[in-house]
Amino acid sequence: MIFISRGISYFCRNATGKLNMKIYTITISMKYSTFLIPILFFVSLTISSSCKGGDIPENPIVTDSVKPLRDMSPFPFGAAINITKIKTNTAYINTVKREFSSITAENAMKMVNLSPAKDQYSWTDADYLVNFAEENHMRIHGHCLVWHNSHTSWVSNYSGTKEEWKTLLKNYITTVVSRYKGRVASWDVVNEILLDDGTPRQTIWYNKIGWEYVALAFQTAHEADPNAVLFYNEYGQEYSKTKMKAINDTVKSLISRGVPINGIGLQMHTNINQSATNMVDAIQQTALTGLIIHVSELDIAVNRDKNSAYVLSTADLETQKSRYRSISAAMSLIPEAQNWGITTWGVSDNDSWLTSNPDYPLLFDKNYEPKICYDGVQEGFSVK
Ligand code: XIL
Repeated sequence: MIFISRGISYFCRNATGKLNMKIYTITISMKYSTFLIPILFFVSLTISSSCKGGDIPENPIVTDSVKPLRDMSPFPFGAAINITKIKTNTAYINTVKREFSSITAENAMKMVNLSPAKDQYSWTDADYLVNFAEENHMRIHGHCLVWHNSHTSWVSNYSGTKEEWKTLLKNYITTVVSRYKGRVASWDVVNEILLDDGTPRQTIWYNKIGWEYVALAFQTAHEADPNAVLFYNEYGQEYSKTKMKAINDTVKSLISRGVPINGIGLQMHTNINQSATNMVDAIQQTALTGLIIHVSELDIAVNRDKNSAYVLSTADLETQKSRYRSISAAMSLIPEAQNWGITTWGVSDNDSWLTSNPDYPLLFDKNYEPKICYDGVQEGFSVK
């Protein structure tokens, strides 16, 4: 018998900006198709028009003459947020509200800040960011539950059996993810767990628990919030094919063993010496896993030699624009269901974590004016 499969899919964002995917697939036999197809077509139009009108929030501070990233981007566009600036700096606050549909806590949700002592939690800053995101119709991406660089001395000094270390990790993840259940859309569950040669990084968690800490972390996060989208976040995909392959193979292997991983984050702390081909290849190869992908910490340094006497040139700004355009274009071609978007690691060149030498890696200048790379990002959107 001949079957006709009609898939009607649409995507809409809810009030927090979180991407919801609803797929309706209806299989009908040929003999019913003549009268069912027109009915299905009518239903799909009705569903998709009600989704558009009701679920995508208006940007509250947009005038007709400006076209901010959050309105122009075909995927969520975010920034890592500095907790002090988002409370105090007016230019910073206005830029974030106008431009971004997603935010990541640059530091406020790391273990070092959330858990100053065993079984003690400090929620003030993380709560502030989650409330800020909700008030401004933004998605919040949680960063990060397990990272070798983000625990305090109480963890380093903790002495316990393997089972006690597992309990410690489970309790921490359960407490944090449960607190923000249904509000934080996604989490970087583990961050930077592989070395450049593709072998496991010898972190405190690896040394105390063994490689199973990775599966334990994902399973625990999933149990605490089954709807949260869970990422393994890593750097290096654009400069090392070996590492990229190791990252993608590791995820596939974990998933084949039933570990609940939804996506891969590509940090993309990069610079203008890196070729556009390598950047685009990193995005495309990672997308071939079929998982959700997030360019999660993007910045493109112009001072690629880390020179203390570096002087910014127009040529370097043009190259930076071109790289931003390539990344934005590559992400614009990723299927919507797999696309968690781009997050820049900071807002303006004044806020970047790259402070040891002069640098200008972000989309806004020190006065929060858009740079030419901002136009490059917008140009990249229109490849679609
Ligand atoms: C950095 C922050 O930007 C700094 O303010 C902090 O001192 C150290 O961490 N990869 C990551 C991020 O996953 O969490 C790091 O953020 C940058 C590298």
